[in-house]
Amino acid sequence: MADFSEKFNIYFSAFEDYLNESFTADNMKVGSEGAAEMFEAMDYSLRNGGKRIRPVLVLAFCEACGGDYKEALPFALGAEMIHTYSLIHDDLPCMDNDDMRRGKPSNHKVFGYPQALLAGDGLLTLAFEIFSSCSLSAEKRIEGVKILAESAGFRGMIAGQAMDMKNESGNPSFDTVKKTDALKTGELIKAASLLGCVAAGADEEQKEAAREYSLKVGLAFQILDDILDVTSASEDLGKPAGSDIRNDKVTYVSLLGVDGARSLARSLTDEAVKALDVFDNKGGFLKQLALNLADRKK
Ligand code: IPE
Ligand code: IPE
Ligand code: MG
Ligand code: MG
Ligand code: MG
Repeated sequence: MADFSEKFNIYFSAFEDYLNESFTADNMKVGSEGAAEMFEAMDYSLRNGGKRIRPVLVLAFCEACGGDYKEALPFALGAEMIHTYSLIHDDLPCMDNDDMRRGKPSNHKVFGYPQALLAGDGLLTLAFEIFSSCSLSAEKRIEGVKILAESAGFRGMIAGQAMDMKNESGNPSFDTVKKTDALKTGELIKAASLLGCVAAGADEEQKEAAREYSLKVGLAFQILDDILDVTSASEDLGKPAGSDIRNDKVTYVSLLGVDGARSLARSLTDEAVKALDVFDNKGGFLKQLALNLADRKK
């Protein structure tokens, strides 16, 4: 669908341009030697990397709710910073111990374990600085901060990562794996969708649809991640394939097999698409995004 990829590229490029303009050593007021070192490590993982799904969700939901997507760019940047921090920490030897990320050596392989830990912390805190000082109204900034803090925090993404680590030495049920994934992956995807709504000044019905959509898309996204871990090559993924097996992870694939996992991802995606009916013709891009994500190859 040409329209879809054109639109995706518009959001993607708007995000990359905004990142390149705003995330500079000057703008970030890098003053000390320590800050310069941190800036380099943060920049290494943040720039030129990843599919940028969370920023695209922020911008697309903003537009679907009738807003100007450019106004949501600071929220998109903050959400991607949190995501990038989570990946840096996720790759550390004490977690998944993965040496490659986004087609390059993982942050800790280049900068060392302590610096990588701190670069993650730096991105996490900077996201809130950006949210609180951007040009959106004070009301929207506060609502954005609350959404991001709740989703990324210890009841959200961090809880999911904690469960994920614990699952390695246990025998988690299907429901436990589902809860883990809804938290570790779904929460930030939900935050991204809601942040777009907030930037646009969306009503409660639109926000509820965004929650429902991202709950389903978030789970489907992690199911695909688990499938690709066993079906794709590291060179295509830009991260080590087979990481889940090496770490004894219980995933959708180990529980349901590749075909079972794929069919669950498809039915979740159908549910996500239905949740967007309230947006009428403004939901077309987001519907197509869900379908594309369920069919992705990396
Ligand atoms: C990887 O996320 C971690 C998960 C939550 C599954 P992405 O697949 O979005 O990673 P990037 O941003 O494209 O590198
Ligand atoms: C990571 O899940 C989720 C977060 C980083 C919060 P995975 O551990 O499956 O992600 P990958 O496969 O390393 O990208
Ligand atoms: Mg992990
Ligand atoms: Mg991992
Ligand atoms: Mg994975």
